[in-house]
Amino acid sequence: MDAAPSARRPPLIEARDLVKSYRMGDQTVMALRGVSLQIAEGEFVAIMGASGSGKSTLMNILGCLDRPTGGSYRLAGEAVQDMTPDQLAAIRNRRIGFVFQQFNLLARTSAAENVELPMLYGGVPAGQRRSRALAALQRVGLGERAAHNPSELSGGQQQRVAIARALVNQPQLILADEPTGALDTRTSEDIMRLLTGLHDQGITVVIVTHEADIAAWAQRRLVFRDGAIVEDVRQTPQRGAGAGPREPAPEGAA
Ligand SMILES: Nc1ncnc2c1ncn2[C@@H]1O[C@H](COP(=O)(O)OP(=O)(O)OP(=O)(O)O)[C@@H](O)[C@H]1O
Ligand SMILES: [Mg+2]
Repeated sequence: MDAAPSARRPPLIEARDLVKSYRMGDQTVMALRGVSLQIAEGEFVAIMGASGSGKSTLMNILGCLDRPTGGSYRLAGEAVQDMTPDQLAAIRNRRIGFVFQQFNLLARTSAAENVELPMLYGGVPAGQRRSRALAALQRVGLGERAAHNPSELSGGQQQRVAIARALVNQPQLILADEPTGALDTRTSEDIMRLLTGLHDQGITVVIVTHEADIAAWAQRRLVFRDGAIVEDVRQTPQRGAGAGPREPAPEGAA
């Protein structure tokens, strides 16, 4: 039933035998023990597994925030594992948007300014930064809240700002590490509906979650145990109990 991936394009993510170890005094912690994984453009993948099984370690490597101790990683055909920190920052900025459990927004800084941040590194002129930030906030249904600081927004709204920030450089890939971990069930569904909408627009989405009903939104589920993938299955998405159209309509596709 799966469409064959285009023969010419490399997988968006192609990781081989990734190993990550941490030296802690005279002990070595093996966070990843040989992870091989391909994710095609346009997939929607959920990663599950017990605490400490290596999920965030993998996400950080896939997101070019960290480098593996061993193995290889190609992102859209580019070999990432040998890049310098500057090259990693550049590829991250160009291709990847991150969403974290704790939103990671700057306090006392408006939603619009938070969303502008990734463009500071890209040398986008100030006027254009603001208009692109506003468009991204509209895309997540928060156009009216652009001037609000995080403390004036609900958890779900703060996560929407974080998603707008992830979107503003028009990434191919969104990596979300427990994006609903700090949210109640209803708000979690809103966030999943939003991520699903972005996936429908062609963005590849990878999320980490501890909750089966959140993982059920994805088309593919990976399970980690002790630094390795022990399960990798395609699934028919089950998208929330009240799967009504509560997602605010995008106010303008960026
Ligand atoms: N910077 C670090 N230094 C030392 N050990 C680390 C570091 N980061 C992670 N680890 C260890 O690597 C292993 C994997 O951690 P990781 O954060 O990837 O787990 P996780 O699956 O994301 O867990 P959780 O569900 O709790 O977020 C753990 O044993 C952890 O203690
Ligand atoms: Mg984690």
